[in-house]
Amino acid sequence: MMEKRMKELIELLNRYAYEYYVLDDPSISDKEYDALYDELISLEKATGKVFADSPSLRVGGEPIKEFTEHRHINRLYSLDKCKTFDELKSWSEKLEQSFMHPIEYTLEYKLDGLTLCLTYENGNLLSAATRGNGTVGEDVTEQVKTIRSVPLSIPHKGIMEVQGEGIMRLSALEKYNLTAKEPLKNARNGAAGAIRNLDPKVTASRNLDVIFYNVNYSDEELVSQQQMIELLKENHFKTEKLLITSDINRIIEEIKSVDRDKLDFAIDGMVVKVNSLEIREQLGYTDKFPRWAIAYKFEAEETTTRLKNVSWQVGRTGKLTPIAELSPVELCGARVKRATLNNYGDIVRKNVKIGGRVLIRRSNDVIPEVLGATDNEGEDIVPPKKCPACGSDVITEGANIFCPNEYGCRPQICGKLIHFCEKGCMDIEGLSEKTIMQLYDKLKINSFEGLYSLKKDDLLKLDGFKDKKISNVLSEIERSKQVDLSHFINALGILGVGKKLASDLAARYGSIDALMAASTGELMAIPDMGPITAKYIVEYFDRHRDMIGRLKSIGIDPVARENKGGVFEGQKVVLTGSLSSFSRSEASDMIVRLGGEVLGSVTSKTTLVVAGENAGSKLSKAEKNGIKIIDENEFIALINS
Ligand code: IVH
Repeated sequence: MMEKRMKELIELLNRYAYEYYVLDDPSISDKEYDALYDELISLEKATGKVFADSPSLRVGGEPIKEFTEHRHINRLYSLDKCKTFDELKSWSEKLEQSFMHPIEYTLEYKLDGLTLCLTYENGNLLSAATRGNGTVGEDVTEQVKTIRSVPLSIPHKGIMEVQGEGIMRLSALEKYNLTAKEPLKNARNGAAGAIRNLDPKVTASRNLDVIFYNVNYSDEELVSQQQMIELLKENHFKTEKLLITSDINRIIEEIKSVDRDKLDFAIDGMVVKVNSLEIREQLGYTDKFPRWAIAYKFEAEETTTRLKNVSWQVGRTGKLTPIAELSPVELCGARVKRATLNNYGDIVRKNVKIGGRVLIRRSNDVIPEVLGATDNEGEDIVPPKKCPACGSDVITEGANIFCPNEYGCRPQICGKLIHFCEKGCMDIEGLSEKTIMQLYDKLKINSFEGLYSLKKDDLLKLDGFKDKKISNVLSEIERSKQVDLSHFINALGILGVGKKLASDLAARYGSIDALMAASTGELMAIPDMGPITAKYIVEYFDRHRDMIGRLKSIGIDPVARENKGGVFEGQKVVLTGSLSSFSRSEASDMIVRLGGEVLGSVTSKTTLVVAGENAGSKLSKAEKNGIKIIDENEFIALINS
């Protein structure tokens, strides 16, 4: 009786975990899941029995003493590499010449993690192993069982060996590093270190994922990579998207369009494979690689170099950011000489030293960052006692160092004014960074109100300012008084309050007076608001009540936009693919302004999907779930209606 119920519970719980971790589409709440899980645990205690696919195995058992060897059923090959599209083309030309006809290719991400090879027998996970030397790896079964997206049992009942990449999602890495005593340098180290850890509880705590791309052995007759991926999906494995085409130029275009910064996992290239398994067999292997696949490697985003010195930069909030001065290195096609170290706390945690070597990372539109030290050399970095810009005594708050001279420190004041004028804030066109520095240096403008006192004669004193430009800037300044509340809150530059939180605060409070009257306790009721940010907000308004009063008397009295009755009222909208007329953030702004809510991924709550060019998995998920989908033209028509 009890065992029957246990089996029932295991089946239910595994199905819900599959929906949650693999499909990203849960059908029950966490609370309901927990209740069923608790029931299973008490039955396991009562019977003293734990079935092989029980989710209770996910928490990780006792640490093991050492890893044992695992021999793979078939040898695991690695991939040949190329770095240019010419090389990729000549690879495909050579294949096609020998076959005298076009070949179908698949294109996949080259995931940057740790190869894992899993064996299932009779529907149950039997073992999991690392690649090792390709023939013999390490048995990491207990570690891999803790990874929630890995099925403990599958529908397929024969023997099946599958291969995938153990990865740490970038969001999981970021979350882990927020509180980690010693931060992980990157996602690959995070995944490899967790899987090759003797204590499975460490693996469990790191929230890893496995994405599968290969069936190494199966008693099922398979004809193509596409079928392999289908078989993996049918058996509840997580896979990534797959492009199939006979046109190598299409492959190249697709590789060019990959935006690594938009993915939640690290990739170091793309893998092109021959789709047909029959052709693969004819092509065979060299002693290291299959001839039927090649990895197109992206330029490295990480490298090591020497840290020459550290300077401190004062930001608009008064925060001093340490900047690493590096021995110049080539990274991602650019010469990198400086990188951010975030804050003093980070320097200590990352154990970075002057004269030592450091690992740095640069992705396309992100400032290069020091990830950590790679040796133990060098001298300690001494935190400054005085502000490098104005000489004031600094104050330390947690991991951060601040200059308290809010009204007399040039980079702070100019930084605040620059942010105030930006798009998404007061949006005053014509007041560039350079102009603002001139306003401060030549006209002594050192406050937001100061901008609204500017006259034509003042502006004539600035370089490059003539009649037309002056009248444009003055009318822009005047126009900015009609700002809406969320942009105004964002413009103030309160520590910890960015665009998203500013918009949440505007929606919640409706007016600046109501927001100014809020207590920390009240503010903390807002989702994602922590006690520190709530404290910063309250302190900000305590100190700036008079300034807000002065802005109001100038005619700036923003109110929240009325969202009711907009065409997107009540809609939960997902944007996917690229739109030609707007950026993502412009489209999101419009949806919110017209009463809708913008979601990051397609779930059962989504009511509408706006699909632009090259829309991918979100679109197919929406199609599968029968969610209403509109294209860019229909979106524009809705906005205009
Ligand atoms: S296929 C015989 N597909 O790259 C080919 N490998 O450099 C077997 N990798 O050891 C590998 N993403 O760890 C394949 N989509 C993908 C991959 C992938 C990442 C890794 C894998 C392999 C290494 C080879």
